[in-house]
Amino acid sequence: MSNIDYSAEANRLETLPALETFKWIFEQTDDAWISFSGAEDVVLIDLALQVNPNVKVFSLDTGRLHPETYEFIEQVRKHYDIEIELLSPDAEKLQTLVKEKGLFSFYEDGHQECCGIRKVQPLRKKLGSIGAWITGQRRDQSLDTRAEVPLVQYDKAFSTEEHSLFKANPLANWTSEEVWGYIRANEIPYNKLHEQGYISIGCQPCTRPVLPNQHERGGRWWWEEATEKECGLHAIPVKTVSA
Ligand code: ADX
Ligand code: SF4
Repeated sequence: MSNIDYSAEANRLETLPALETFKWIFEQTDDAWISFSGAEDVVLIDLALQVNPNVKVFSLDTGRLHPETYEFIEQVRKHYDIEIELLSPDAEKLQTLVKEKGLFSFYEDGHQECCGIRKVQPLRKKLGSIGAWITGQRRDQSLDTRAEVPLVQYDKAFSTEEHSLFKANPLANWTSEEVWGYIRANEIPYNKLHEQGYISIGCQPCTRPVLPNQHERGGRWWWEEATEKECGLHAIPVKTVSA
């Protein structure tokens, strides 16, 4: 896996339909997992199932998701008749954080510490034993942090000397309009929060609806700068890196 030229593959797949990216992923490894946030990235599941009926899906259950998101995860599980593995944060680390800083420390000293415990650590643990993860990142989600997201890349942030993996972003070159066109055309389920003005959806205390013409990530960690609006899940350099 480490001798693949990810940059060349990303360029080749760029001009092909998204299903070709999924086919390529499953040709490289039988242990690729969709990282499902409980929002519009349900499109990943719908597409992946068209080329692999045994699709694997995990979701980071931070404990702070909206009730609507939990309901949606359950709806997706039933709709596609698939398992969705929910990953929980380490209980001890979480207890220490809450004991020392309370439940809303992110409003005071930034979201990185809480995201680190509730999202990044459980993710790192999961990625330590799988072949690839598939995300719903798109370039149009942020000019500040996602403008160069490739379709596939060696995962420099989560690979270790003992274990390497790649990351795939099959919707990287889709626009929000295309995602929603797909959801509507195929009548696939969506998170009900989207009917209340939410576009990008994360944890309940750190997400709010956006106003007309406000950028979708304007509703995430709104008290912080745009360039800081990454929680560590996707903090790797976005340019394709060959192993
Ligand atoms: S975030 O880093 O700002 O939270 P965002 O909400 O844009 O990410 O989602 C981008 C992609 O990251 C999603 O399509 C999904 O693949 C992954 N992701 C985000 N949140 C989660 C989550 N709670 N569980 C699993 N994957 C997630
Ligand atoms: Fe914590 Fe907010 Fe990050 Fe969720 S998004 S893990 S509540 S800081």
